[in-house]
Amino acid sequence: MKKVLVTGALGQIGSELVRALRERYGVDNVIASDIRMMPAGSAGQDGPFEYADCTRQREIREVVRKYDVGTIYHLAALLSAVAEEKPHLAWDVNMGGLYRVLEVARQNGCAVFFPSSIGAFGPGTPKDQTPQDTIQRPTTMYGVTKVSGELLCDYYHLRFGVDTRGVRFPGLISYVAPPGGGTTDYAVEIFYEAVRHQSYTCFLEAETRLDMMYMPDAVKAIIELMEADPDKLHHRNSFNITAMNFTPEELTQAIRKHVPGFTIDYQVDPVRQAIADSWPDSIDDSAAREEWGWAPEYDLESMTADMLEKLTEKLATAGPNI
Ligand code: NAD
Ligand code: SER
Repeated sequence: MKKVLVTGALGQIGSELVRALRERYGVDNVIASDIRMMPAGSAGQDGPFEYADCTRQREIREVVRKYDVGTIYHLAALLSAVAEEKPHLAWDVNMGGLYRVLEVARQNGCAVFFPSSIGAFGPGTPKDQTPQDTIQRPTTMYGVTKVSGELLCDYYHLRFGVDTRGVRFPGLISYVAPPGGGTTDYAVEIFYEAVRHQSYTCFLEAETRLDMMYMPDAVKAIIELMEADPDKLHHRNSFNITAMNFTPEELTQAIRKHVPGFTIDYQVDPVRQAIADSWPDSIDDSAAREEWGWAPEYDLESMTADMLEKLTEKLATAGPNI
């Protein structure tokens, strides 16, 4: 089979996607790549790993040709909070990287997966049950790069026939690799602090409502979309998908069912609060359900139970420096 390449493979999604793809397609058929050094025990270690900066077309092209890559899962990007701190770099990495990956894909006949985000919406978007096709005028650099990325992927499909596909992920919750500097990171940090200290100081307001998803469902979505029948895909590049919807206060209540003494207080970060306030409260993912059968497995209760169990095991064996 043609091989697959994952860019940004050492990040929150890549650390679990690489593992799942290797289980499905074979260890040697999945090439992990990143610009970070690979930590011991991370995703890339059991199979091929290449240093590749997605903003350098030659580096991506060399890996694609060396391994005869047929599909690129392009995860390398800066997330919303980091992108707001470094907007120029975010444009270079998020847009420059995607453009170069699409060019390499066009020249070498590769399919491309591109993850967009609820950050592709803005304050002018309907906030509740945000439709699949609606107003997208984001006010963050992250959102600007995500809308532009969706359009660029559409263009490469329409103009050049590149098999581009993608989803708009909500906040992702996981225990394998830490999140990379997003607005929804609180929903991961809260679990680490619940297990370690039974208390957490949250950087978003108690009633900030956002859609979320547990990482096993996110990985499932990527694989199912990339294996879906292309004839059924009307919205190729930017499917709304979601699994659960909560506020920090509601997540606290769910954690308290397992950690009764857990406490939360709030020191709101105005930058991340403004980003969260510009995003939808909830999104409508019926197009993904209809066009490729999207259905998540985890809700708030089952995700919370699994996160606490897995993190308790991980922190017990990992020591204090994780
Ligand atoms: P992450 O920040 O955890 O990982 C990104 C990886 O990209 C890092 O390992 C980083 O070293 C690498 N990287 C940065 N610049 C690079 C470059 N120039 N070349 C190659 N690699 C580079 O991010 P993630 O959470 O795994 O997200 C992956 C993708 O999914 C991003 O496009 C992100 O916007 C999108 N997404 C993530 C979430 C989420 O909650 N995690 C939600 C919506 C969308
Ligand atoms: N979790 C991501 C972020 O907060 C959403 O795209 O940046």
